[in-house]
Amino acid sequence: MCSTTILALALFGGATLTLAQDPCAAIGGKKWVKPSEVRACYTSFPVIEAEKTNILDVVNKTLAFHTSVNYQIQAPPPYEDVAEDILFDIARIREESYASDYDFHIDISRSVKRLIDGHVVWINYCYDSAFVNYLPIPLVLVEGETVHIAAEAYDVASAEFADQLAVWEEDVSAQIEGGLAALNGAEVLEIDGAYPFEAVHANALIVGGYQAYGTRQNGFFSSYQRAASGWNYILGNFALQSLPLSDSVTLLVRTAGSNETQEVVVPYYSRIGSSTVGFTDGPSFREGNCRAVGGTNGVDYYSAADQETPEPLVKAMQAPAPRRIQEHLVNTMLDTTPIMDVVLPPELTPPQEPVEGFGVGQFYMLSDGTTGVLALGSFSGAFFGPMVQGLYDGLLELKSRGAERLIVDVTNNGGGYICVAHALHRLISGPKSTTIPNAGLNTTARAGRLAQTIVQTIVDSPGTVDPRSVLLYNPVNWYDADTNAAFDASDNWLVPPVEKIINGREDAFSQTLGTDCPEADIFATPPPDSALFEGSQVAIISNGRCASSCSLFSIAMAKTEGSKTVVVGGKSDTPQKYCGIVGGQSTDFSTIDSEIKSTGLKEHELAPPDLIVNGVQGITWRLGYGIDDPSEPEEWQDRPADVNLPLTLDVANNPAKLWDIVAQLI
Ligand SMILES: *[C@@H]1O[C@H](CO)[C@@H](O)[C@H](O)[C@H]1NC(C)=O
Ligand SMILES: *[C@@H]1O[C@H](CO)[C@@H](O)[C@H](O)[C@H]1NC(C)=O
Ligand SMILES: *[C@@H]1O[C@H](CO)[C@@H](O)[C@H](O)[C@H]1NC(C)=O
Repeated sequence: MCSTTILALALFGGATLTLAQDPCAAIGGKKWVKPSEVRACYTSFPVIEAEKTNILDVVNKTLAFHTSVNYQIQAPPPYEDVAEDILFDIARIREESYASDYDFHIDISRSVKRLIDGHVVWINYCYDSAFVNYLPIPLVLVEGETVHIAAEAYDVASAEFADQLAVWEEDVSAQIEGGLAALNGAEVLEIDGAYPFEAVHANALIVGGYQAYGTRQNGFFSSYQRAASGWNYILGNFALQSLPLSDSVTLLVRTAGSNETQEVVVPYYSRIGSSTVGFTDGPSFREGNCRAVGGTNGVDYYSAADQETPEPLVKAMQAPAPRRIQEHLVNTMLDTTPIMDVVLPPELTPPQEPVEGFGVGQFYMLSDGTTGVLALGSFSGAFFGPMVQGLYDGLLELKSRGAERLIVDVTNNGGGYICVAHALHRLISGPKSTTIPNAGLNTTARAGRLAQTIVQTIVDSPGTVDPRSVLLYNPVNWYDADTNAAFDASDNWLVPPVEKIINGREDAFSQTLGTDCPEADIFATPPPDSALFEGSQVAIISNGRCASSCSLFSIAMAKTEGSKTVVVGGKSDTPQKYCGIVGGQSTDFSTIDSEIKSTGLKEHELAPPDLIVNGVQGITWRLGYGIDDPSEPEEWQDRPADVNLPLTLDVANNPAKLWDIVAQLI
């Protein structure tokens, strides 16, 4: 339903003309529109109580399977920014009335983002990235302090926004001699009349994702990522918003080579999302984009046809999804912005040919002849085995070419296969106490009442319920930490629950699970019988934005093997963390819903209903325990980077130049 304003105009002669003023009709069929027009469309939809109740029920009941609800009421230092009582906020939102459904969406989505856990995001594709808001001037942080428009801004914008550039050019050339291109590299002294870090701070408060404040600051700026098809450019939260939040930005700039400051107003423009269904008016927008789609909800694996990873979840994942979600354990960050394919300009891509590679993983030798580089943009791709083999082959190739040291560049690596993280650690470090039987962390899952009932249903009828052993809750899929043996099919591993008081609330977890990637399952060919690189000769570099399985790898390498950690481009007076969002294993509402449906428990009072809107709710399903303090989750233990490497305009977003600098730090 759409709140269309019907203007009935009484015309002379008694005829009545009806004009429908539907703000969605004004943007229907267009590719580029103004953010204010998108907001007018979004805010024209009133709250539909049945949908609001449905969303809150699904989110609330799914969070009962999320490990960290009570931890996140108040995390310890240095992550004290995590201070959200989400169940309290859900109860508050239930009572609240909103001017529009969009206002409701902003409240629930920001409340969930305040958990600052990139695994736990509420996404409603009716709004999130249905239109994406852009500026053609991504920023970089120079010398840890000074904000600049990226030197490559014009190249990036002219390649990605070719069909909108003339409009921006017209806006800017009236204000700045030389137009948009003259802004390349300009120093930004003020954003909207304030010190630029005010805007960086405002974004860090709402964006969610990484616990560490410095890492959220870094997300405001542009960066790069190794993707399956090539090198991508990440625009950053200044130049890309998943909602039409801002109409324009006013900058006080000093252009390159000039000593004078001048003001420039640059409008944001919204581009229709790549998977947004075309529409002509409000009702068709909602019909195409706002209702549950295939994969929104779970299925009974035993009555549905072949189950591929649901499309809505694939879109949210910040790493390529496995073809079937049940096939391999994953730990992957989610975001309201799907992974984009903005291309890193040719002048910034590494000039040397990779010596080996497989999509998201590329191997390079540096000109010093002793440093090898693995650029790894994600821990997953479509296929698990070839990825492990690709890492193996690439590391051997670097060794054969004389590499004694290794740089692993995990900039913007949002995670992926848990066992690939362990495999890479094992390949680099050889067999030793930190890698045998497995690299990786012990974990626990939450032992809520419905979770316990799911396990009990499976163990009550072994071989009848879940005969293919694909369910997350099936005991045979997990290893007891004490014995390193898989649980027996009859063992309810959530019972008796381990009771804890967390932030004053009673909570319950499973017994401790051992790590879960036996060597024989990971490697098709036996891994090397000694270390390929000494831990101290490995440097892990990123902008701090290394999450999930990327964190599992980086933490284990840094804390158990003594590898160096380098964050590039962080603010000089903010502590930089080399990774975040550890989790242990992530999943989402649809997968939990499949567990419930496959065990016949959909009618249970704690089972979330089917979602009726086009949404995704992620959760952390297992939580890893620390290396320094094994009695507490790793999630909130400190991960200070050894080095915060300041950038110059010349090296910013230029991976090969950064590797040359880092090679001298190892
Ligand atoms: C949310 O779920 C909790 C249990 O996790 C329950 O106690 C609470 O009543 C629910 N709140 C709302 C508002 O549904
Ligand atoms: C800018 O000012 C500095 C010092 O005040 C001076 O050395 C430089 O020549 C000036 N540059 C231009 C382009 O005017
Ligand atoms: C996991 O737990 C077992 C049993 O308590 C312990 O021996 C082992 O060291 C732990 N592993 C890690 C990586 O913490």
